[in-house]
Amino acid sequence: MNEMNVVMDIAKQAGRIICDGWDMNSLQISLKGEINPVTEIDKKVEDLVTGMLLKAFPEYGILAEESREKRGSVNARWIIDPLDGTTNFIRHYPSVAVSIALEKENELVLGLVYNPITGEMYTAEKGKGAYRNGRQIHVSQVSRLASSVLASGFPYDAWDNPDNNTKEWSQMIKKCISLRCDGSAALDLCRVAAGQFDGYWEKGLSSWDVAAGTVIVREAGGIVTDYSEGPDFLFGGEMIASNSALHREIVSALSL
Ligand code: IPD
Ligand code: CA
Ligand code: CA
Repeated sequence: MNEMNVVMDIAKQAGRIICDGWDMNSLQISLKGEINPVTEIDKKVEDLVTGMLLKAFPEYGILAEESREKRGSVNARWIIDPLDGTTNFIRHYPSVAVSIALEKENELVLGLVYNPITGEMYTAEKGKGAYRNGRQIHVSQVSRLASSVLASGFPYDAWDNPDNNTKEWSQMIKKCISLRCDGSAALDLCRVAAGQFDGYWEKGLSSWDVAAGTVIVREAGGIVTDYSEGPDFLFGGEMIASNSALHREIVSALSL
């Protein structure tokens, strides 16, 4: 069974649930933290995606945001964010996506990020390039921070955590053209892959926020590291993604 075909089909079905939820008059919302919401739609999408993936690939494990990890019988697992951009979803701000990645032998090999509201589907498999709705995408060629547009976000514990990215934002805004905060890490990464943003950084992230976007950025010609330019971005909670030409400059701007 072709993994990408299966995942694309599942993402489209997940997209229908997200679109139905978008049109609902009232949503069940609960809080995982003071400002960290989850809706009935996050859970419905997760049940659909995990159920279908388990049926298609019973030997693979599953790590998904709203449930406990399920181990597989082989060294492969799906890393899933059923709805990235839940605050946007609640506010009808159309930056929302289902994000599905596949890790095999501890390496990310497939990523899909689908925004059913705008119809953008980003896909990538290791060694095969990155695509938006089937058309190949590439990172930008901007090579100076002073000519760049970057994206970032704020952690859900920003009220209490002094390390809440405000210092980095105030440093960075003096060095680039502008900054964007769109509320979906998965889509921020896709926009780096498509050359709309030249780079992205954020702290307080989880693996499901960035796993699929990582494959898409890499296959579009970009790079992804932690803040020390090391490989600990998937479970280390911090990430810098860029078109590669700007990477060093972003790293040093953040280390000031
Ligand atoms: C959040 C989004 C947001 C990022 C947060 C994430 P969620 O995911 O990706 O852009 O700033 O750190 O937790 O909660 O909407 O799935
Ligand atoms: Ca997320
Ligand atoms: Ca989520």
